[in-house]
Amino acid sequence: MSNLKKATMVLGKEYKISEVDKRIYGSFIEHLGRAVYGGIYEPGHSKADELGFRKDVMDLVKELRVPIVRYPGGNFVSGYNWEDGVGPKEKRKRKLELAWRTVETNQVGINEFMEWSKRVNTEVMMAVNLGTRGVDEARNLVEYCNHSQGSHYSDLRIEHGYKEPHKVKTWCLGNEMDGPWQIGHKTAEEYGRLACETAKVMKWVDPTIELVVCGSSHKFMDTYPKWESTVLEHTYENVDYISLHSYYGNLENDTPNYLAKSLDMDAFIKSVIATCDYIKAKKRSKKTINLSFDEWNVWYHSREQDKKIEPWSIAPPQIEDVYNMEDALLVGSLLITLLKNANRVKIACLAQLVNVIAPIMTENGGRAWRQTIFYPYMHASIYGRGYVLNPLVKSPKYDSKDYTDVPVLDSVATVNEDKDEITIFAVNKDMKDTLNIHCDIRGFIDSKVIEHIVFQNDDVKITNSKDHPFRVIPQFKNDAVVEEGYLNALLPKLSWNVIRLSTK
Ligand code: AHR
Repeated sequence: MSNLKKATMVLGKEYKISEVDKRIYGSFIEHLGRAVYGGIYEPGHSKADELGFRKDVMDLVKELRVPIVRYPGGNFVSGYNWEDGVGPKEKRKRKLELAWRTVETNQVGINEFMEWSKRVNTEVMMAVNLGTRGVDEARNLVEYCNHSQGSHYSDLRIEHGYKEPHKVKTWCLGNEMDGPWQIGHKTAEEYGRLACETAKVMKWVDPTIELVVCGSSHKFMDTYPKWESTVLEHTYENVDYISLHSYYGNLENDTPNYLAKSLDMDAFIKSVIATCDYIKAKKRSKKTINLSFDEWNVWYHSREQDKKIEPWSIAPPQIEDVYNMEDALLVGSLLITLLKNANRVKIACLAQLVNVIAPIMTENGGRAWRQTIFYPYMHASIYGRGYVLNPLVKSPKYDSKDYTDVPVLDSVATVNEDKDEITIFAVNKDMKDTLNIHCDIRGFIDSKVIEHIVFQNDDVKITNSKDHPFRVIPQFKNDAVVEEGYLNALLPKLSWNVIRLSTK
C-alpha cells in the first residue's frame, strides 16, 4: 500500500548557485560501434539527406537541444589520424581501429561531422590524439579547423570544400590517458608535460580556444587523485578545465542502492574541485580551473553481449545498452547533481548520443526511437537554462547497502529570468511511497503552475524498443498548486518530475 511522505523545500531568488553554462547538457559521439555509421550517418537510408545524414536522427537530436557534442573519441581518438578522414571520400583509407577492434572506413571525418553539427544546431568539442601523436598533429588540426586562410592546413580545408573556418572553441587534450587500456597510455608526469606543451602551442595557433586536460578515467583508478594533482602541476596556467568520467550500473539489482549513486557523482565532483583548488593555492594562482564531466551515463547492460562481437567488423552493435525506467531515474538524479555543482561544472557530456550507451537508438535501414533516458535529459536541456537555485531541502532519508542518509527527494531548481519561469526538477527515490513536497516560493510573486511532467512506471525494468517505441513516455499531472506562496505537489514513488512555474 502506498503511504504519503513529506518533504519541504525553500526556493529564494537570492539563493543562486550559478548561471548554467549550457554546455552542461552536452553529449558525445565517438567512432565506436553504430554511433556514426548506422547512427547519424547512413547513406541509402530512406531518411538520409544528400550527405548521408539520417534526418530522423537529426530530428531527435534537435528535440534534445544538445548544445555541444564531444568528438571523435573517446578511446578511438588515441589512435586516430585526422588526416585520414578529410579530402575525397574515395581516397580515404580503411584502417584497423585498435581501441574497439573494428575497421574504420573514414567515410565520416572532421568536415562531415562539422557539417552534421551545423544541421543539428550544436557546437563541437574536438579531441586531439595524445596517445600515438602529440604537439605537431594537434597544432596542425587547430590550424586546419580554425585558421581562416593563407597557411598550408587552412588552405587544405578550403581545398576540401570548407571555405569558412570551423571555429572550434572547446578542445580536449587526449582521452583517459591514465588508463592502461588507452593507446599510448602515459604516466601523470609524461602526460602532464605533453599536455602542457600541446596546450601552449594550440593556443599559439588560436588564442581564443579553451582546453580540457584529462583527469582520471574514474575515481576508482589507483592513480586517482594524485593523477589530477600531478597533471595540474604541469598544466595549470595553460588549461581551462579538467575532465571527469563516470559510468554507473545496477549489477546487483538493488534499486535503492543504485539510485543512491548520484551521491557518488557528487563526492567525485567535490574531491576534484578540492584537488584543483589545492594546486591553485600551491601555485598562488588567481585562476580557477573548472570541471568538464565529459563522460557520464549508465553503462552495464551490454557488457556480456559485447564479448560476442567479431573483431575487425565495420560498425558492429557495440555497447548498445537498452535503458529502463530506473536508469532514467538515475540519469535524472545525475543531471540534478551536475546542476547543483554548476558553479564549477561548466561542461558535461552524456556519453553517448546515438546507439552507443545512448538516449537515441536506431535500426540500420529502419526506425529511430527514444530510450527512457532521453526524457530526463531532454527536460533538463530544454527547461534547465538560466540560473541554478540552491534549494533548501528537508527530506526523509534511507540507508542502502553502500550509502547512508540518502535523501528520498533529490531536487534542484532553475530560474529563467528571460522567460519569468522557474523549473523544479525532482526525483522521488522512495520504493513505495508518494512524496508530498511543500515548497516555499514566497520570494517569487504571483507564481502559477504551468505544468507538472511526471515520468514514472510501476515496473522499473520497463524499456522502449523498436517495436514499442512509446511504451514509456512522460505524462502530465494536474494536482500541483500554488497557494499563498507555497507550492504543493505529489511526486509518485520512483518518479522523475519537472514542475514548471510562471512568475513575475
Ligand atoms: O564512452 C565509451 C568509452 O568509455 C570511451 O571511449 C572512453 O573514453 C571511456 O572509457
